[in-house]
Amino acid sequence: NTTYKIAVLAGDGIGKEVMPEGLRAVSAAARRFGITLELTEFDWASCDYYAATGGMMPEDWKAQLSGMDAIYFGAVGWPAIVPDHISLWGSLLKFRREFDQYINLRPAQTFEGVRSPLAGRAAGDIDMMIVRENTEGEYSSVGGIMYEGTPHEIVMQQAVFSRRGTERVLKYAFELARTRARKHVTVATKSNGISISMPWWDARAAEVAGTYPDVAWDKQHIDILCARFVLQPQRFDVVVASNLFGDILSDLGPACTGTIGLAPSANLNPERNFPSLFEPVHGSAPDIYGKNIANPVAMIWSGAMMLDFLTKGSGAGRQAHDAIVAAIKSVLASGPHTGDLGGNASTTEMGQAIARLISDAA
Ligand code: NAD
Ligand code: IPM
Ligand code: MN
Repeated sequence: NTTYKIAVLAGDGIGKEVMPEGLRAVSAAARRFGITLELTEFDWASCDYYAATGGMMPEDWKAQLSGMDAIYFGAVGWPAIVPDHISLWGSLLKFRREFDQYINLRPAQTFEGVRSPLAGRAAGDIDMMIVRENTEGEYSSVGGIMYEGTPHEIVMQQAVFSRRGTERVLKYAFELARTRARKHVTVATKSNGISISMPWWDARAAEVAGTYPDVAWDKQHIDILCARFVLQPQRFDVVVASNLFGDILSDLGPACTGTIGLAPSANLNPERNFPSLFEPVHGSAPDIYGKNIANPVAMIWSGAMMLDFLTKGSGAGRQAHDAIVAAIKSVLASGPHTGDLGGNASTTEMGQAIARLISDAA
């Protein structure tokens, strides 16, 4: 019987409130399906740790995390104490790079009991997987400020797309589409305006698509793609995008389903050379922190994705994933609901209701 080692990093703000509910659900599912988890909680990768030590993480963070099978991550960022680019490049973005988590997989689905702002969308109408490139593109450190403090001051930041980085994310998207009923990929682009990198990205997409004759595909410019997420979300199956476009689409897609409080995310190193990281799409939500009203579903669903990824092959992780998602669906359909879903339940009440359904079905 394998023991899976999980690093637990709650981070900041509502990360600290939703993480206990994530752990409650994940532990219930693991117990039920005979998966042994060894959880290790760390207080670093947080702005509190920065306030105490002057850094986001200890020197040996990589050694501490490298032996882990996965990282379960809340949310980082507390701009009142630490500027966001310092806290995020000192934690989450570092993990994505240094552990080569080049796929950021982000589902968006409509559910019974969740009112979409798009009138008339029913459960299942929206069921898309956003595949976000997670290690390069627009999130680069190449650039700088010149002639600072003079009237000639300019700033440049270079987007960087490698052939390897681009091909591997496109391939992942087409492989994923193969496993889904509609077998369709939409490639996000902006080759009309961004005249060097994006036509090159389109060419890579056409090459990769050519090797998947069984998968239908199209490419759409990011602006109209955003509009169609709102106007015709049911037409999307797998959507693959560069780092920045994928970031934007993966808040927009879940928002179209009702709330970003549902949206999970898997930062994957598919080769398993490094630990993968599972976290909600949302951040630390300073505006609601401390009231125990954050929706715990994104954290819990991310935990389901983690169990599925960890045990692929054995089947127990897939069963645990399905049991968690079934419990989420049932609580979305009949409550209790947090405020973003129109209810007045607490984070804890909603999390407990989900965990109870996971355990009781055993
Ligand atoms: P945010 O996602 O934290 O919040 C955006 C809005 O959505 C807020 O009104 C918030 O109350 C609401 N919201 C978010 N999660 C919710 C939930 N589970 N239930 C109910 N409502 C929820 O985005 P922001 O305000 O732009 O960022 C706040 C901080 O979080 C910043 O420091 C930012 O850099 C950071 N951030 C971190 C991550 C991450 O760690 N992955 C992601 C996004 C933002
Ligand atoms: C996300 C977040 C991060 C990103 C921020 C906090 C750096 O928005 O995970 O979607 O842009 O990748
Ligand atoms: Mn984002």
